[in-house]
Amino acid sequence: MRKIRFINAEERYIKSFWTAFDNIASEKKYLGTARAFPLDITTKYLRRSIEKKVPYIFAVRENKVIGWCDLQPKDNSTGSLGIALIKEYRNLGIGTVMIHKVFEKGRKYGFKKVFLEVRKSNKVALEFYEKLGFIKINVIEEGVKIGNIRDDVIQMEKEL
Ligand SMILES: CC(C)(COP(=O)(O)OP(=O)(O)OC[C@H]1O[C@@H](n2cnc3c(N)ncnc32)[C@H](O)[C@@H]1OP(=O)(O)O)[C@@H](O)C(=O)NCCC(=O)NCCS
Repeated sequence: MRKIRFINAEERYIKSFWTAFDNIASEKKYLGTARAFPLDITTKYLRRSIEKKVPYIFAVRENKVIGWCDLQPKDNSTGSLGIALIKEYRNLGIGTVMIHKVFEKGRKYGFKKVFLEVRKSNKVALEFYEKLGFIKINVIEEGVKIGNIRDDVIQMEKEL
């Protein structure tokens, strides 16, 4: 985990974030899409998040975004969690560090609760979230469809 910096999302890393997102999306196992959204749309989204000071962490190694964790406002008191790391940086404790950092920022932002959606087949993430105290609140059957892959989506929540 040495040499990894955890920083607030920054304009100059947007392209690198987009590349990381596309890389993880193309695995087709974890995110709700098989490709990143176009760079201009991603840039607008990130700029808005940065402007509004939404909790948004980039994990950066050698000037490259290798993962991220964010909490987007779902309502006044709830943040909707996103988290992912590119493959070679998983299972090293980095996700645990990022999520605790984003929880801290979320509390300061005023969130009282964190909400997330995870694919039922994503056993690693389910275990990760359960260990952190997230509780299942709902299942959307076949909530995700990527090509001919269909998966249930589990919704979870945790008090901050
Ligand atoms: C889910 C994810 C963010 C977790 O981050 P991470 O850095 O890999 O997780 P950590 O190393 O901090 O591990 C924390 C816990 O997660 C679970 N975990 C992580 N990797 C695991 C693996 N390969 N097998 C089983 N459990 C695993 C364990 O419970 C682990 O605790 P432990 O170390 O005490 O056993 C990361 O694996 C990832 O980016 N996955 C792909 C993208 C994704 O699924 N995003 C979430 C979409 S909802």
